[in-house]
Amino acid sequence: MLAKVYSMAVLGIDAFLIGIEADLSEMLPGLTIVGLPDGAVRESRERVMSAIKNCGFEFPNRKVTINMAPADMKKEGSGYDLPIAIGLLMASEQVKNIPLEAYIVLGELSLDGTVKPVKGVLAMAIKAREMGIKKMVVPSENAMEASVAEGVKIYPVHTLSEALEFFTGDSNIEPFTTDLSGLFNQARHYAIDFKDVKGQDHIKRALLVAAAGSHNILMVGPPGSGKTMLARRLPTILPDLSLDEALETTKIHSVAGLLDSNTPLLAIRPFRSPHHTISDAGLIGGGSYPRPGEVSLSHHGVLFLDELPEFSKNVLENLRQPLEDGKVTISRALMSLSYPARFMLAVALNPCPCGYYTDTRHKCSCKPEQIQKYMARISGPLLDRIDIHVEVPALTYDELSQKTSGQDSASLRKEVSRAREIQLSRFKSDRKLFCNAHMESRHIRKYCELNEDCQGLLKNAIEKLGLSARAYDRILKVARTVADIEGKEFIESAHISEAIQYRSLDRKLWMAN
Ligand SMILES: Nc1ncnc2c1ncn2[C@@H]1O[C@H](COP(=O)(O)OP(=O)(O)OP(=O)(O)O)[C@@H](O)[C@H]1O
Ligand SMILES: [Mg+2]
Ligand SMILES: [Zn+2]
Repeated sequence: MLAKVYSMAVLGIDAFLIGIEADLSEMLPGLTIVGLPDGAVRESRERVMSAIKNCGFEFPNRKVTINMAPADMKKEGSGYDLPIAIGLLMASEQVKNIPLEAYIVLGELSLDGTVKPVKGVLAMAIKAREMGIKKMVVPSENAMEASVAEGVKIYPVHTLSEALEFFTGDSNIEPFTTDLSGLFNQARHYAIDFKDVKGQDHIKRALLVAAAGSHNILMVGPPGSGKTMLARRLPTILPDLSLDEALETTKIHSVAGLLDSNTPLLAIRPFRSPHHTISDAGLIGGGSYPRPGEVSLSHHGVLFLDELPEFSKNVLENLRQPLEDGKVTISRALMSLSYPARFMLAVALNPCPCGYYTDTRHKCSCKPEQIQKYMARISGPLLDRIDIHVEVPALTYDELSQKTSGQDSASLRKEVSRAREIQLSRFKSDRKLFCNAHMESRHIRKYCELNEDCQGLLKNAIEKLGLSARAYDRILKVARTVADIEGKEFIESAHISEAIQYRSLDRKLWMAN
């Protein structure tokens, strides 16, 4: 007989229904898989054959054809083992009367019939819910992750035999349930806080402004000045994630296979800090088994590039698309796929190769041309997309040993959220615009009008400080954010002055400091 089992595949971060048909014919015994299977799917043969035998069934003494539909979509990975095995046992009538149409089945099989976890289960469960499919049989390790989708009954299985007994009604499995809102509220806390950082009020303020307008930020300072420590705390002052945002970020981590079975929902904003040796595919996504890159793993959170000049030029060039579009598109042989990638970029670097150029307590051993060459590595298009630059000074012993701590993350987050609300209401009529950092020239003209005082101040700064032309728009956007933090409708001179301070790298004076 012909048996049909439904499973799912993931493309980008969305899942698709896959139909798996098993048919037997009177030809030489063997197993053929058709319907654009990749290497891992073809290897399914060996795993399925062994698993079936080791669970006490027989591999049919006839030719078995497995057809996977739709035929024009490449099937990848090892997650189809379980539905293939079940289809095959149905087709050979070793198990009967299984109501398979009602289920999505997924799981990799090991040779002894154990069901192993697969990637992207959350995306699949969300798709099943959208399609009105009510039941899924999943590897037990993926059960918690799948249950986050809510509305689909999740049946966890440990072995092929367990799955079969469940389908034939010989044993019962309780659907796995999760208290989603409980889980969400419980997991919403950060382990670190801004109050751990002593002194550095100027940098904390710059991070507050960056967070409030979603501006990318660059920190330059000597080793040990706390750049990494400060950057790590940036997600803690961004507005709380909504449940929908949390699900979206979780889906990406699920597709990348990065969720551990005890953390089914990422309820806090991600902070990703890839090493400078990262490859293009690692940062942007792609590869022979496409997976989301660091830009997507930081979706709704912060991507931190430490020691920026050490990253290859090519890798940095690749950041342009996600920084502009909030997503990455990856071209593949048969189709292209895209991953969301809307993140705040924070970068850090030393002021020179030895690190101590701006440190008053150490002598810098670099020659001017070395410093120039070092700084030149980060110039250009990437720098163009960073609105705020700050110099992080090394703290003195007295500052470090002081007991008082500054504002904590919760109160900073409140200020950020208030400023974000003002932006949302201002941009109501401009679809797709949510924060000051993403304003284009026409928005800047409309929303950042300057009175005469402000115009004079800005003109003066540009001429006297030798600020570059590209600094102009950035200063206006940041000034808008500062005004929003203060709840002011119009930009004032104090807001412009503050924004000018955040252009350290634009000042021609950098080399003559
Ligand atoms: N403002 C501060 N308050 C409290 N501790 C600090 C502060 N600044 C630095 N530290 C301490 O110094 C350590 C080093 O800081 P961090 O690694 O963030 O410096 P960095 O600027 O990133 O240095 P590098 O250039 O070497 O990467 C931190 O782990 C922290 O313990
Ligand atoms: Mg560091
Ligand atoms: Zn130096």
